[in-house]
Amino acid sequence: MRYEVTQDLMTGNSMIDSEHRVLFDAANKLLDAFADGRNDGGMNIVQTGIFLKNYVDKHFEHEQELQKKHEWREYDTHVRFHEQYKQTLSDILDGLPKDGPPSVELVSELNLHIVRLITHIRTMDKRLGSYLQSRGEV
Ligand SMILES: [Fe+2]
Repeated sequence: MRYEVTQDLMTGNSMIDSEHRVLFDAANKLLDAFADGRNDGGMNIVQTGIFLKNYVDKHFEHEQELQKKHEWREYDTHVRFHEQYKQTLSDILDGLPKDGPPSVELVSELNLHIVRLITHIRTMDKRLGSYLQSRGEV
């Protein structure tokens, strides 16, 4: 299964949408690395996981900067979601084995966590996107 930014997940803000694409890409790469059980040179599981985590941090920061700049009324709840999301992602990635493929449970936890992000995009991020558009930030 590949995650992708389908039309219904577009927020209308070009930066947010293109960062969501990179995020889904990183999630797909991590799941591919899981499937291969690859832990040797190149983008292995640990490196792919670190990239995903760093990118999530960077992307959430960008979204929060935009919200602050435009005084978005959902800022506090939105940040709370981001903080919790980052924490759970760290917990999941901390559970990665140094060698060999991750457990089935860990893979399904990660999938669930990506689905949580999709729900977040469909609701909070899309509301934010509409608001930003109304402020001329596209
Ligand atoms: Fe968000």
